[in-house]
Amino acid sequence: MLLAQLTDTHIADPETDTELLVDNNARLAAAVERLNAESVQPEAILATGDMTDNGTAVEMDLLAELLEPLRAPLLALPGNHDVRETFRDAFDMPWATEDSHLSWAVDVGDLHIIGLDTLRPGSHGGLFDEERRRWLVEALAASEGRPTMIAMHHPPFLSGIHWMDSMRLEGAEDFADVVAATSNVVRIVCGHLHRPLTTTIGGVTTSVCPSTIHHVELNLDPAAPIEVIRDPAGYQLHHRNGSGWVSHIRYIDTGEPPVKPRWSLS
Ligand SMILES: [Fe+2]
Ligand SMILES: [Fe+2]
Repeated sequence: MLLAQLTDTHIADPETDTELLVDNNARLAAAVERLNAESVQPEAILATGDMTDNGTAVEMDLLAELLEPLRAPLLALPGNHDVRETFRDAFDMPWATEDSHLSWAVDVGDLHIIGLDTLRPGSHGGLFDEERRRWLVEALAASEGRPTMIAMHHPPFLSGIHWMDSMRLEGAEDFADVVAATSNVVRIVCGHLHRPLTTTIGGVTTSVCPSTIHHVELNLDPAAPIEVIRDPAGYQLHHRNGSGWVSHIRYIDTGEPPVKPRWSLS
């Protein structure tokens, strides 16, 4: 079982004056090209939010155009930079509700995948409220003990980067309690932080995928200013092999092809 994860692509309308620190659209095009060239293709690609910068219909059209060449099916979730109405129009997903949250649950092979929409309109922070708690508990019950992965935009933990944590998930403790009450959640995968990191929530390994655009500067000083950095664009490959789930990061803008060293393992 192989799944890819793309996040925080922030596709932008070139006609607007949005301040871009890298070429967001070109970076997604490069990521799609690299992903399509993976020798083993993923069975699905998780897109964990902030797929556009402002959620406009123009940006959603540009996003659709850039994602169109992907060889594997896309499972998409909105982030705080997206807009539910345009997002719903752009992706054909079994959305959980008519309007309050675009969560979904699908099966990929023997894996149950729950996409939890944490968007809170008008805020950069996310929300796990009573309605979503009830929905998640039901979705987990419907998994009937099968291995289940949860994808979400806002990470349910503090990163230690204070200005990013001001946009945290409200209700994260309740989310952790729901997960801790289960035994079949195998991984939780998130976006939003524009920086790869890993922790444990409710006993489950929880990771954040690198963004395809700029990254957040790693500065754990509580007084750190808002700073970003042009780290390489990346995506993740979550691979279930003989020993469990292993998450790889593919950096895609180094421009360097792989080389075959003359070393031998014998
Ligand atoms: Fe983002
Ligand atoms: Fe975000």
